[in-house]
Amino acid sequence: MARLVDDVVAAHLVNPLVKTRFEQIKDMAHTKQLVREFFTAGSGGPPTYTGKGMLAAHKGMNISEQEYLAAMDDIVGAMNKNGIAEDAKKDVIAILYSLKGEIIRV
Ligand code: HEM
Repeated sequence: MARLVDDVVAAHLVNPLVKTRFEQIKDMAHTKQLVREFFTAGSGGPPTYTGKGMLAAHKGMNISEQEYLAAMDDIVGAMNKNGIAEDAKKDVIAILYSLKGEIIRV
């Protein structure tokens, strides 16, 4: 999980569509920890997510559809790189897609 999240963040930081968003994060270690918790809790691990809900986390950022899709592409790319099984990959994509209304233009 730690490697997956590291790879997702690394991909965001070189993705011209979203890099400026992630360059602005002040405490990246903390954000990475929350994202690790979020994905661990969502994939059957200990349910210890201590961060905000997706709406509260992204409120006021005015994230566009294009940025959302670019972030999804980075996540799928990192899952491919780390050999995540096809079924698990589909679950992640479906769950993140279901959350788009809490992330895009909120
Ligand atoms: C694709 C689904 C996404 C998921 C699952 C997700 C997940 C998260 C999580 C768990 C956090 C930490 C919440 C907290 O601080 O309590 C977070 C923060 C953040 N997200 Fe997302 N996110 C997604 C999409 C995006 C997109 C598309 C962008 C912008 C292009 C974005 C930008 C950010 C930023 C900048 C923060 C950090 C805010 C800060 O400085 O604390 N996220 N996200």
